[in-house]
Amino acid sequence: MSLLKDQLNLEKLPKHIAIIMDGNGRWAKHRNMPRVFGHKNGVTAVREVSEASAEIGIQYLTLYAFSTENWSRPALEVNALMTLLVETVKRELKTLNDNNIRLSAIGNLSKLPSKTYDTLMEGIAATANNDRMVLNLALNYSAKEEMINATKSIAQQVSEGKLTLDSINADTIDKHLTTSGIPDPELLIRTSGEQRISNFLLWQIAYSELYFTETYWPDFNREHLYEAILDFQNRERRFGKTSEQLTIT
Ligand code: FPP
Repeated sequence: MSLLKDQLNLEKLPKHIAIIMDGNGRWAKHRNMPRVFGHKNGVTAVREVSEASAEIGIQYLTLYAFSTENWSRPALEVNALMTLLVETVKRELKTLNDNNIRLSAIGNLSKLPSKTYDTLMEGIAATANNDRMVLNLALNYSAKEEMINATKSIAQQVSEGKLTLDSINADTIDKHLTTSGIPDPELLIRTSGEQRISNFLLWQIAYSELYFTETYWPDFNREHLYEAILDFQNRERRFGKTSEQLTIT
């Protein structure tokens, strides 16, 4: 029985948690093992955190699995990550369905290797009717690229007379991002001690609470997740208002 889990306020859970899974390489290095060994063990953490999130009632879990910058890693590592993704999606499909979890993905997916892309699309289709939690993988993702694409698509609509300049507001931008329809994450976690955003969900995290932990991703388990949520629940989210205003409204 988890003491931390018992302390969670289930009425005040974040709807959406986003995670920058970092430290796989260093975790492996500490064990004198190749980086890929770290990624393989990272999958164990993905499974545990996904299960724990669904269990307590998180509705959206977005995991930063591969950034557009990650292509510059050694080819061996990139290939291993892509293969790992294919294997994981295939292997976990039954568990996803058993747990009523819907797989989803954001990022420049069409530029993924065809096998990775096809497996991902199969996984998304096979879980499309699940409605307990959305497991959203950010793959070949760049927040800046996402904003450039949103800007282009808005400009296109203006030039075609489908949208007026004056009507453009935050909702317009939301609708043109790949996260359209997904609420902004209230909590963003980054593991491994790095305190950076690294081009992840720049627009969507405007008011997110940021949680940094020294734990390397392969070691991150359900207890660490509860700890992060408890920390979040003990913060006061003011959205620019004063504490006094929050108690009145
Ligand atoms: C960061 O650690 C991790 C990644 C770039 C990849 C994350 C991938 C997985 C956990 C495995 C596959 C994912 C799924 C969803 C099946 P790093 O390599 O940057 O670590 P370092 O900073 O210590 O080098």
